[in-house]
Amino acid sequence: MNTILENIEKQMNTASSILVEDVKKIDGDIIILGVSGKIGYNLSALLMDALKKAGKDTTVYGVARFSGGPESRQDLEDLGVKTIVADFMNDEELGSLPKVKNVIYMVGYKFGSTGNESYTWALNSYLPGRVAEHYKDSRIVAFSTGCVYPLVDVKDAAPSEEFMPDAIGEYAQSCLGRERIFEHFSKTNNTEMLIYRLNYAIDVRYGVLVELGTAVYEGRPVDVTMGQVNVIWQPDASEMAIRSLLHCTSPANIMNITGPETLSVRWISERFAEVMDKEIEFVGEEATTALLNNASKSHEIFGYPQTTIREMIDIVATWIMENGAMIDKPTHFQEREGKY
Ligand SMILES: NC(=O)c1ccc[n+]([C@@H]2O[C@H](COP(=O)([O-])OP(=O)(O)OC[C@H]3O[C@@H](n4cnc5c(N)ncnc54)[C@H](OP(=O)(O)O)[C@@H]3O)[C@@H](O)[C@H]2O)c1
Repeated sequence: MNTILENIEKQMNTASSILVEDVKKIDGDIIILGVSGKIGYNLSALLMDALKKAGKDTTVYGVARFSGGPESRQDLEDLGVKTIVADFMNDEELGSLPKVKNVIYMVGYKFGSTGNESYTWALNSYLPGRVAEHYKDSRIVAFSTGCVYPLVDVKDAAPSEEFMPDAIGEYAQSCLGRERIFEHFSKTNNTEMLIYRLNYAIDVRYGVLVELGTAVYEGRPVDVTMGQVNVIWQPDASEMAIRSLLHCTSPANIMNITGPETLSVRWISERFAEVMDKEIEFVGEEATTALLNNASKSHEIFGYPQTTIREMIDIVATWIMENGAMIDKPTHFQEREGKY
């Protein structure tokens, strides 16, 4: 990896002073369930950096099956995370996980969910109940998704937490199931929780900006039918997830997490074309509805995300042009019928 790419990674994995201050207030050890996914390394790196800077000796556990191979496990161990291999769908393995004060739940199943509906519901909606029982004396930050909202008219306000969810398609419905089950156990067991409704995390290796930037760079047409999106720099989202441990309540606190602007897909693509000095071809026409998320509540609590959209575009464009490594997991943000 060249120094430009190394510097980008280093910056992404360096904790802000705000995170360091908040980490000082989190009592007890921390377990991250679903640590081997797209967000897990970044969140773990920021957490470990913040703990070190705060001078705390908190134990951090990271659990998954590590189905992508042993390298991701070693990378986490190198950060100081104590990794555990477990399949959460196996009762014995779930039951043997250490009971610690703080849980960050990042488990989910999305791609391939069409055609595998029963497993989708078991993993996304049934498992949260098993986990909520095992961790009833902990506080839990449970990752969810902005997909629990319906497509809304772009002339209307984007949905905030006051807006009733109305999930489209079985994946999104099973995610709403995940929320409802967690909420149920938060009430019945008095477990403090925060439901973290995210869309879309922007990393240099995957995400909406990587997909748009790569299409522009490779001269492929950009479909603008899903004409608007909300995004957030993944390190900002990861920091908010950790800081959310200080905002868990019973009944569960619901929190939308994304950036402050509703962004035009056409505008983002044009900015990439400018930075990369490329021509651009659009297909389709902006629909009158889009999947949107108003995260003003999280901005009131955590402040605005620290990384702006133009900074994100510059960083992602640099990563693409410098041929940085990618994760081949497209977001399918253009999907309008909820089939993943
Ligand atoms: N990334 C985004 O932009 C985004 C946007 C909206 C919402 N979210 C939500 O945020 C959460 C985290 O996102 P992500 O992108 O990191 O998700 P991801 O890449 O799909 O990661 C899911 C994690 O769950 C683990 N897992 C799945 N089934 C398991 C099982 N039976 N036993 C043990 N571990 C299991 C996976 O590890 P193994 O396969 O190794 O076990 C992996 O670590 C997800 O719930 C997702 O719904 C993410």
